[in-house]
Amino acid sequence: LAQGTSPTPPMGWNSWNHFAEKVTDADVRASADALVSSGMRDAGYVYVNIDDTWQGKRDASGVIHPNSKFPDMKALADYVHSKGLKLGIYSSPGPTTCARYEGSYGHEVQDAKTYAGWGIDFLKYDLCGFRDVMRKEAGNDKQKAFAMQKAAYLKMRDALVAAGRPIVYSLCQYGWNDVWEWGPEVGGNLWRTTGDINDTYSRMVEIGFSQVGLSKFAGPGHWNDPDMLEVGNGGMSEDEYRQHMTLWVILAAPLLAGNDLSKMTPATLAILTNKEVIAVDQDSLGKQGDRAWAKGYSEIWTKPLSGGATAIGLFNRDKEPASITLNLREIGLSDTAKLRDLWKGSDVEVSGGKYTVTVPGHGAVLLKTSAESMRAGQDCDRPMSEHL
Ligand code: GLA
Repeated sequence: LAQGTSPTPPMGWNSWNHFAEKVTDADVRASADALVSSGMRDAGYVYVNIDDTWQGKRDASGVIHPNSKFPDMKALADYVHSKGLKLGIYSSPGPTTCARYEGSYGHEVQDAKTYAGWGIDFLKYDLCGFRDVMRKEAGNDKQKAFAMQKAAYLKMRDALVAAGRPIVYSLCQYGWNDVWEWGPEVGGNLWRTTGDINDTYSRMVEIGFSQVGLSKFAGPGHWNDPDMLEVGNGGMSEDEYRQHMTLWVILAAPLLAGNDLSKMTPATLAILTNKEVIAVDQDSLGKQGDRAWAKGYSEIWTKPLSGGATAIGLFNRDKEPASITLNLREIGLSDTAKLRDLWKGSDVEVSGGKYTVTVPGHGAVLLKTSAESMRAGQDCDRPMSEHL
């Protein structure tokens, strides 16, 4: 029996950030179509994830049915699969979900079977309604509530495995109880590390830059999830969305677009589909980046990549443009490393191990070193032959 896997952070689209409770079967089909026609599928965005509000009632034998917005889930899954994409769905360990739709409480095995029967490939399992159960049964006993929470996640993991279809398992409980410590134990392929994102610069940076120190908990098959992308939803500037995307790829975050894909501007598409930028997120080493340097509103984050290269994000959190100087030695890299600007797709000039660039207000520059970037003694991921 199999569980879903995610050797690199899952990529795709999720209905919540744009459509929220209004999402319909037609919206999901249109999104699948757009993933293909825009080139996003071929750039790696393969999951089409239906979030909350698809659920209808259970029948006399307890089997869950979608509501009138989703007339035939199996047919929808077939359609999505026919486009070379995968279908994701959403539920809760509680009796109800966050939007107060039917949850999986007491029906875990049945629901997992139903999802497998439809052809579901990804499940986002949102604690929300289970908090009422924990409150009722554990009261103020935090240890008991924590044990209940873990047991609830494990229960659905076991149900998914027993259902016999590989389904990627996404834990959504807002980072409580340091989920990164125990997420893998309960079968999580990814787990939210924070509360909900929204389409504002302040919320995006509050989430993104608070991920300091979490890098050691991520790796192939189990990822920290700072929540879905807001790129293209209209609340931020182009530079702010570029900073959002740059930070998420440095964080090896799941890349789940959250915009209306059927109405994308060329600028939005360019931010979402830059191949060299995506490759940083999807790098096979599977290491999450972390903060290497910060001063005032400027921050430098680095992410080790396969083959001994390093991705370097230069972030300007100030409204005004800022000149940021990258000193390769200061962040543990060789001062003979060559640098490439990934958003621009061109090499840049390093002089004396330093590179100075003006980063737009609320913007970011994403650099990648040549493979020989590590200083001696720091390149444990490289095979011995490369040292010779
Ligand atoms: C919670 C989750 C969101 C979304 C909504 C749906 O708030 O964190 O990502 O799934 O529920 O109701």
